[in-house]
Amino acid sequence: MTALPILRTPRCLIRLAVPADAPQLLAYRLENREHLSPWEPMREASYYTLSECSRIIAEAEAAARADRGYSLLLFNTDAVEIIGSITLSNVARGPFQACILGYGVGARWQGFGLMKEALEATLAWAFGALGLHRVMANHLPDNERSARLLERLGFEREGYARAYLKIAGSWRDHVLTAKIRSED
Ligand SMILES: CC(C)(COP(=O)(O)OP(=O)(O)OC[C@H]1O[C@@H](n2cnc3c(N)ncnc32)[C@H](O)[C@@H]1OP(=O)(O)O)[C@@H](O)C(=O)NCCC(=O)NCCS
Repeated sequence: MTALPILRTPRCLIRLAVPADAPQLLAYRLENREHLSPWEPMREASYYTLSECSRIIAEAEAAARADRGYSLLLFNTDAVEIIGSITLSNVARGPFQACILGYGVGARWQGFGLMKEALEATLAWAFGALGLHRVMANHLPDNERSARLLERLGFEREGYARAYLKIAGSWRDHVLTAKIRSED
């Protein structure tokens, strides 16, 4: 099993959630409901409950131990507060060695370069200890902030997929991008 990460950057700490994080995760979800909903799948009412946050944390832990995916929380080291999330999902091994990257930062924390800082550390871990060769990230064509962020991180556009993901209740086209481990 890959050692589970605790990643530190100058301003952030990135790690898997533990059961004690559930109340803070719920607070993050509630505070950022409007901010995140245009970019995410439609959420059931239960998504905004403590029991669902606890369940998702347990599920994420099991997924990480099975090397299926890594749902990481992003903390601000000054405020010791959840400020965002980063997910490496659909980990594929064998000849592919790839995963899909997802991320979001709280509305109060946008525009400070925190996600770029956190993703640089996460990608270094993904291409290092986790041993991945390719990280894929897909965004809505009108998600300019996300497009800019991926470009700055060295992701390259690989394609355009019609009706790719059901976001905020409708099937939406996505721009497909990926970053390949530089030594490969
Ligand atoms: C996509 C998202 C994570 C981008 O967040 P972000 O804060 O804009 O991204 P970065 O961490 O790269 O920060 C860059 C911004 O910080 C500013 N900044 C300030 N200080 C900085 C620093 N020290 N270093 C880098 N950037 C800095 C940059 O100028 C830039 O602002 P601008 O875009 O207004 O010019 C965020 O908009 C978000 O969570 N959106 C909702 C969810 C979402 O879309 N998820 C992705 C789905 S594909």
